[in-house]
Amino acid sequence: MGRHDGFVVFCPDTAPGERVRVKVRKRKRRHAEAELLEILETGPDRIAPPCPYVPRCGGCRLQHLEYDVALDGKRRQIAEHLARIGGLSDIEVRPAEPAANPFNYRNKMEYSAFETPDGVRLGFHERGRWDRMVALEACMLATPLGNAARDTVAAWAQEEGLTGWDRREHTGQLRHVVIREGVATEELLVTIVSTSGCEEAVDRLEERVTGNHPELVGLLHSVTDGVAESTADLPTRVVWGASRFHERVRGVTLELSAGAFFQTNTLMTETLYEHVVQAAQLDGTQVLYDLFAGVGSIGICLADGAREVVAIEIVADAVEDARRNALANGVENHTAIAGDVRVVLRERGEQLPRPDVVVVDPPRAGLSGGACRRILEAAPPVLVYVSCQPATFADNAKRFVDGGYRLEYVQPVDMFPQTPHVEAVARFVRSD
Ligand SMILES: C[S@@+](CC[C@H](N)C(=O)[O-])C[C@H]1O[C@@H](n2cnc3c(N)ncnc32)[C@H](O)[C@@H]1O
Repeated sequence: MGRHDGFVVFCPDTAPGERVRVKVRKRKRRHAEAELLEILETGPDRIAPPCPYVPRCGGCRLQHLEYDVALDGKRRQIAEHLARIGGLSDIEVRPAEPAANPFNYRNKMEYSAFETPDGVRLGFHERGRWDRMVALEACMLATPLGNAARDTVAAWAQEEGLTGWDRREHTGQLRHVVIREGVATEELLVTIVSTSGCEEAVDRLEERVTGNHPELVGLLHSVTDGVAESTADLPTRVVWGASRFHERVRGVTLELSAGAFFQTNTLMTETLYEHVVQAAQLDGTQVLYDLFAGVGSIGICLADGAREVVAIEIVADAVEDARRNALANGVENHTAIAGDVRVVLRERGEQLPRPDVVVVDPPRAGLSGGACRRILEAAPPVLVYVSCQPATFADNAKRFVDGGYRLEYVQPVDMFPQTPHVEAVARFVRSD
């Protein structure tokens, strides 16, 4: 962020203390958004990005900054959103927990396939472009195993002569490749997303991918002929092995369906959950709600300290995973309910035990007004909010403060180094 005659201008790829020439792309009432044209004076915190695809690739945006500076920027971003959107200016926002693994941390990669004059390639969208792609030989956020698996699939696609998906014409065969890993378990699950008619080619991938990667536990094939870019909720067949894989966090082994959410940085999930444990302060007597539970990981990891755990999650497969995971880890005080948090709390809230501690971990959109109201009605003495989006968190925080809670502190955790994304754990307590 910079200022021109006092007017705020947001411009990516800049660093603190720089003088730059920019082109304004969007002008709004209070700020403008601009594109960097030239660095006139380099700031002291700028470094050479280690990845050759920066800045063309849309994946990373902070590789040009000293890590400490990027980290502090994340803390300030949360504090500024709380003040500006939530009107909460005196909140303790603690220094961000640094990532133990600033590179090679992603346990899930979704590559887009596209056509080039040299045949099909795998990569990411160019920054800000839906129609232009960057072909990748390696990604510094993927793990070595993830990179190797992508190479195997890319070589197979070229040898098969498959065509890459054309996003303008909606033609082509190979659309996406999704690579998921259990980092702690060294298990690999590969999903090929293509248009119909590629079944035989995908069958021929089996031998190559199992041969190259003994870590492989499953090869899946999802088919779509529609125009939407989604890789989720598609008809999927198991080509080889299983449709699930395992990950381990805080000593708990979790089974994950191909489509179920899991935190993308396994190592830092340990740290994130440790902060949830500290914020929840369970003593064995409380009823814990794990809302937006995914495969049940938070509730299962914390179940030891609770009398009872109630997990609510909207994706049916993930709820099945959560039930299986509780059983497999010998957790008996755990109930997983499928449904929308807002609806389940409204329709079944009376039959459920009253919560002493509620943990919410919503998607980036944050909690809906209805979900906030249902939680306020449930009135837990302690609310732990795990946020992946500071703006929606600030809006929700205001609702809880207006509803009678005090926001004790916010602890940012860097789950997504090299990107502007920020994760945080916040502890609210009822003030009456
Ligand atoms: C950020 S993830 C958190 C998952 C889990 N707590 C973890 O640590 O892995 C958010 C989860 O909320 C689920 N979800 C999204 N909207 C929901 C809703 N309205 N009601 C219940 N669950 C929802 C998603 O399917 C996803 O699993």
